Amino acid sequence: MKDDTGMTSQVRGVIARGKGEPVELATVLVPDPGPGEALVAVQACGVCHTDLHYREGGIGEDFPYLLGHEAAGVVEAVGDGVTGVAPGDFVILNWRAVCGQCRACRRGRPWYCFATYNAAQKMTLEDGTVLSPALGIGAFVEKTLVAAGQCTKVDPAVPPEVAGLLGCGVMAGLGAALNTAPVTRGDSVAVIGCGGVGDAAILGARLAGARTIIGVDIDPRKLEWARQFGATHVINSRETDPVERIQELTDGNGADVVIEAIGRPETYLQAFYGRDLGGTVVLVGVPTPDMRLEAPLLDFFGRGGALKSSWYGDCLPERDFPMLTDLYLQGRLPLEKFVSETIALDQVEPAFAKMERGEVLRSVVKL
Ligand code: APR
Ligand code: ZN
Ligand code: ZN
Repeated sequence: MKDDTGMTSQVRGVIARGKGEPVELATVLVPDPGPGEALVAVQACGVCHTDLHYREGGIGEDFPYLLGHEAAGVVEAVGDGVTGVAPGDFVILNWRAVCGQCRACRRGRPWYCFATYNAAQKMTLEDGTVLSPALGIGAFVEKTLVAAGQCTKVDPAVPPEVAGLLGCGVMAGLGAALNTAPVTRGDSVAVIGCGGVGDAAILGARLAGARTIIGVDIDPRKLEWARQFGATHVINSRETDPVERIQELTDGNGADVVIEAIGRPETYLQAFYGRDLGGTVVLVGVPTPDMRLEAPLLDFFGRGGALKSSWYGDCLPERDFPMLTDLYLQGRLPLEKFVSETIALDQVEPAFAKMERGEVLRSVVKL
């Protein structure tokens, strides 16, 4: 699919034209990769809350957005100077293409990299309107242009709809447990909010050897799923005080690690008070700008321990993606359970509705 100049691919993609408007399929022009860039034929892309936030104008006003960012595919072409990936490689796209130069990278903490790479060239509509790719990726599209560092090569034996999940939400939850907390063997762990991110945190806690894993949610269906991912106990916090129940389940003490996977002040405080003295709280749910926390400062002092937040599960794609896909292939990480349904490119809008109704962990677009 080349145009007259032979320099651009013309493909179909899902865009958000304006605040609150339903997403639509549009023709997208994708430049051939320049220096440091890669053109990727997208095979699968999960529908994430962040895509919906873009459409609702909650992230910025740079409409139109090219949505989708939780994706896997095959590298089709690379630009000059690209050595890390080559055409034919099966890759997961990431939004942490570590720069190696920023102050976090130079201190040896690349999972905090402050200057991740995106493609320099822009994808556009047919009339030349520049698209803003979601999280610097834009993957509800047949082909996308990214920085080569945004492509992480993994074993092609993994189905793309499974591999793509690691590109965002599932990695966030796994990483909250494995990287940020980090959970260690024998820990008691509570996870508040058992959607895709929370269930991934449960899976991460199980992988790390947690002894007690408590899932907290207000939806009985989610609690049932949490058990399937490895929760040893569940709490319906609409019916039962979660802090008291977490304490009961942990010899009266509270959990060693509590992971908040919703992003709300009241559930954050449940996490804060549900942990043991000296324990760790990890906030992986994303709050909105208006949210405020009110609590006695003395409790923050007196209870000790660590209050952390987890951005993208503090993941290092090059380190974590191939490791996690290998564990999946060995049958030790049932990532396929997150795929509630696979859908076509024109089904993103109904998938948003299902996500809002809590009917799915992940809808995944297959291309
Ligand atoms: N108490 C307990 N559980 C709640 C509450 C509450 N007050 N409110 C919502 N929940 C539950 C929902 O029932 C649902 O199971 O939290 C879960 C949220 O899951 P999803 O909506 O599927 O969201 P998910 O994709 O898991 O993301 C969770 O992490 O990365 C962020 O942006 C993401 O902020 C979002 C969070
Ligand atoms: Zn950096
Ligand atoms: Zn996401």
